[in-house]
Amino acid sequence: MTRGAWNPDQYLRFRAERSRPFFDLLALVAPCPGGRAADLGCGTGELTPALHRATGAAETVGIDNSETMLAKSAAHAGDGVRFELANIETFEPRDPLDVVFSNAALHWVDDHRALFSRLAAMLKEGGQLAVQVPANHGHPSHTVADEVACEEPFASALGGYRRGVPVEEPEWYAGLFDSLGFREQSVRLQVYVHHLPARADVIEWTRGTLLTDYEKRLAPGLFEAFLVRYRERLLPLLSEAEPFYYPFKRILMWARK
Ligand SMILES: C[S@@+](CC[C@H](N)C(=O)[O-])C[C@H]1O[C@@H](n2cnc3c(N)ncnc32)[C@H](O)[C@@H]1O
Repeated sequence: MTRGAWNPDQYLRFRAERSRPFFDLLALVAPCPGGRAADLGCGTGELTPALHRATGAAETVGIDNSETMLAKSAAHAGDGVRFELANIETFEPRDPLDVVFSNAALHWVDDHRALFSRLAAMLKEGGQLAVQVPANHGHPSHTVADEVACEEPFASALGGYRRGVPVEEPEWYAGLFDSLGFREQSVRLQVYVHHLPARADVIEWTRGTLLTDYEKRLAPGLFEAFLVRYRERLLPLLSEAEPFYYPFKRILMWARK
């Protein structure tokens, strides 16, 4: 399905920082003993069993469209947890679900009105939707990537592609949940504070996520040149203080039908 830009080893370099929002989101979900849950964009699947145990579901399916990420998932399957290579945009659960959960994945899917409407329709009455999406697109670590994508030779090689930002404001999601008929909801913006050893480590961070989108679209040599340009432009915008303070905004949302 997707070309191999997702690299589990690079992604998991910041395992502790990346798993914290997962558990903050999970804390919002009420148990649904014997029910069915889905983990959309489950990555390596290493966190999916925690979702399964917390909900007490009989069956939890983790889906992801990256073969490289999902290759690690077999070790986490069993006892009601299974994994499928599937695209969030076309995924259809076999039966209505008690919990639709997604940590740090839906910002890769466009048109959140259509997407969330589809996810809401997968839920049983009383079912819960729990989603965490990064909202750090205004930080230089993200805006500089877009600037470099607009420069030559990258703009031509990318065919003019620019990564859009499908993530909306928190209150937009609250309004959407209300219009979709959810009876309860909680939507919040949370700033996660990370202390990275030095400012250059921000590049290691974005290489594991945001920059994979450019990596999969550029020839290897050109992606290396992209990284060099990104580094040259980004580092002067960041503090030299060590450890480096890296604030990261995320939206955590939960709603029940
Ligand atoms: C940042 S990782 C998050 C992984 C996991 N949820 C976690 O919390 O560690 C994002 C994952 O979303 C997956 N993804 C992105 N777009 C997707 C899509 N359209 N369908 C399925 N998976 C997708 C990627 O392959 C990647 O594994």
